[in-house]
Amino acid sequence: MKYENEINKRRTFAIISHPDAGKTTLTEKFLLFVGAIQTAGAVKSNKIKKFATSDFMEIERQRGISVATSVMSFEYKGILINLLDTPGHKDFAEDTYRTLTAVDSVILVIDSVNGVEEQTRRLMEVCRMRLTPVIVFINKMDRDGKNRFDLLEEIEKELKIELHPMTWPINSGKDFKGVYDLHNKSLVLFTANTKATDEDTVKIDDINNPLLDDKLGEKDAALLREDVELVDGVHGRLQVDDYLSGKVAPVFFGSAINNFGVREMLDTFIQIAPIPQCRETSVREICPDEEKLSGFIFKIHANLDPKHRDRIAFLRVCSGKFERNKYFHHVRLDKDVRFSNPYTFLARDKDVIEEAYPGDVVGLFDTGNFKIGDTLTEGEDFYFTGIPSFSPEIFKEVLNKDPMKTKQLEKGLLQLTDEGVAQLFTQFGGNKKIIGCVGELQFEVIQYRLLHEYSASVQFNTLPFYKACWITSNDPKKLDEFIRFKHANIAEDKDGHLVYLAQSEWYLNTERNNNPDIEFHFTSEIHK
Ligand code: G4P
Repeated sequence: MKYENEINKRRTFAIISHPDAGKTTLTEKFLLFVGAIQTAGAVKSNKIKKFATSDFMEIERQRGISVATSVMSFEYKGILINLLDTPGHKDFAEDTYRTLTAVDSVILVIDSVNGVEEQTRRLMEVCRMRLTPVIVFINKMDRDGKNRFDLLEEIEKELKIELHPMTWPINSGKDFKGVYDLHNKSLVLFTANTKATDEDTVKIDDINNPLLDDKLGEKDAALLREDVELVDGVHGRLQVDDYLSGKVAPVFFGSAINNFGVREMLDTFIQIAPIPQCRETSVREICPDEEKLSGFIFKIHANLDPKHRDRIAFLRVCSGKFERNKYFHHVRLDKDVRFSNPYTFLARDKDVIEEAYPGDVVGLFDTGNFKIGDTLTEGEDFYFTGIPSFSPEIFKEVLNKDPMKTKQLEKGLLQLTDEGVAQLFTQFGGNKKIIGCVGELQFEVIQYRLLHEYSASVQFNTLPFYKACWITSNDPKKLDEFIRFKHANIAEDKDGHLVYLAQSEWYLNTERNNNPDIEFHFTSEIHK
């Protein structure tokens, strides 16, 4: 197998969560633990602070900083881990969904007090769609959370995934005493705010060992024995294949801020997390061990300096070997391109690299050649599939305030939407430009960037739509009829695909019922 050692060494994943569940804290503990950073607080700057909607320049600045931490590569016990960062702010959820297309597995953080939240549900939906293996970290066990059994049931039900506890908590809140490692049969005692060391781990070969009573007290020891018997009885040993196929999610309990439970998870992660996987394309499946390079762009980050229009495009390498200064084939543009300064992100510093392997992410300087979903190959023509656009939730018409700048405006809209800042729709049979976003914040960003980078001045007119559905039909006549009948609600996306803009759920359901020959899709593949 070509590049076997390089491929087997790599694990590419993302940590995801509803905002505030503890993603940033856990990321930081991971990096501290593996020695990739030395001080706490280093990752914090990456977080888009809450309630900052009125100050989006600050957000952009923070997003700028986040370029450096977009990918964090580090080695742990001989494994090269590529951790892809996802923005915590809900208005940038699309960014997160796209990043999920570039990973092979995820760690999902859930707040033990709040349980499953809105973003948790949506993120998990994307993981399920892609059959991404998920490890769950139930965080904030140092706070009075939900009952552990209720919580697991809630997660299983809400996220539609079977859970497999790997550790088991002993109480929560101020009575939290630690976790029992079901796999290694050891007790890990909780000490607040310290780096867990081996002294905190008590090896117990038999759960009936009286040492457990000494360490936990009789009552908690008895309760733990009962719990463990129940949990073991139900779950048995983890079947790694079930995890790898996205059927079962191993669960760890801990407290990220206290650096507790993190090591158990990380050690399991490197043992079971998938190596770079094969991926579907428009033509055939591509596996990492193929000799020739292939990869796709999943994220584009604009330069914040308006004098420099260049951007960084993030390439996930899927097969073969990426090399500096070598010509690769840009499939959409049908042209050969090479890169003299490709970046890697080892240990948080951007560094020019000579080569990269499947699972790696390379930062490419781009002057406007790339859009999300673009594919690089060594000549073959195909696109990676499964890089969807999701329906936006807020729609606004773009009103051009300066007709002299129409050209600049059009260029700006195209480039910003190529970056994935928002989705652009054009009224069917007309010229009206409609921008769809998941959050209000993007409209501020678009307005500001159009003015400062393209000298185009715009206003927005809110439209009464709540969802965009891509529509298809096997019966072209029926589709034509529908379009004619509903033309005020029909638009085209940037690739010319038809969408139906629904005013409300009621309208959407009515149209779906009345038009059984039309299919309504809530996501679109950027490339089909
Ligand atoms: P996010 O990236 O998922 O949005 O969450 P983040 O890590 O920023 O954590 C959100 C808040 O939860 C932070 O508090 C953080 O300190 C706290 N937190 C994280 N892990 C734990 C835990 O295990 N136990 C407890 N009790 N709290 C935890 P904050 O007050 O919002 O921010 P900060 O002032 O601490 O930075």
